[in-house]
Amino acid sequence: MANVLVLHGPNLNLLGYREPHMYGDKTLAQINEAIEDEAKQLGLTVRIVQSNQEGDLVDAIHQAIGWAQAIIINPAGYTHTSVVLRDAIQAVRLPAIEVHLSNIAAREEFRHHSVIAPACVGQISGFQWMSYLLALRAARELIEKVG
Ligand code: DQA
Repeated sequence: MANVLVLHGPNLNLLGYREPHMYGDKTLAQINEAIEDEAKQLGLTVRIVQSNQEGDLVDAIHQAIGWAQAIIINPAGYTHTSVVLRDAIQAVRLPAIEVHLSNIAAREEFRHHSVIAPACVGQISGFQWMSYLLALRAARELIEKVG
C-alpha cells in the first residue's frame, strides 16, 4: 500500500459555498470522501490536509518525508505567488501533482502562471472535484513506475 499526501490550500474549506459556478457545488468534506473512496480502490492510503496558512502547508509537505510516496496539491491562490511552497516541494524530493478545480488557463491573466508547476511532475486543471481523482490515478502510476 502506497501513501499519498493530499493538500488543499487557502479558501478551499469553503467549497460548496464559494463560487460554485467555478468550483462546483460539492463541499470539501464530500470531495475528501470521494478522494478516500478512490484511493481505496487504487490501493493508496491518503493523508488529507487543508490549511489557510502557508506555513502549515509547508509543514505538511515536510512531514511527508518518510511517509508519502507522492504529493497531490491544490495550492489555491498560492499557486500564483508562493516561492515558499515551490521550494518545499522541491526540498522533499517527492513526485508532486498540481491540481485545480477550475481551468486556470481559461480564467484571469494572473491565474495563468503557476509558480508551483515547475516543481511538479504535471498539472490537472479544470475538472472540478474529478481533478483530484485523476491526480490520484496519476500518482499511482508515478509510484508504480518508481517501484
Ligand atoms: C484554484 C484556482 C486558483 O486560481 C484559485 O486562487 C483557487 C482555486 C482551483 O482549484 O481552481 O483558490 O486553485
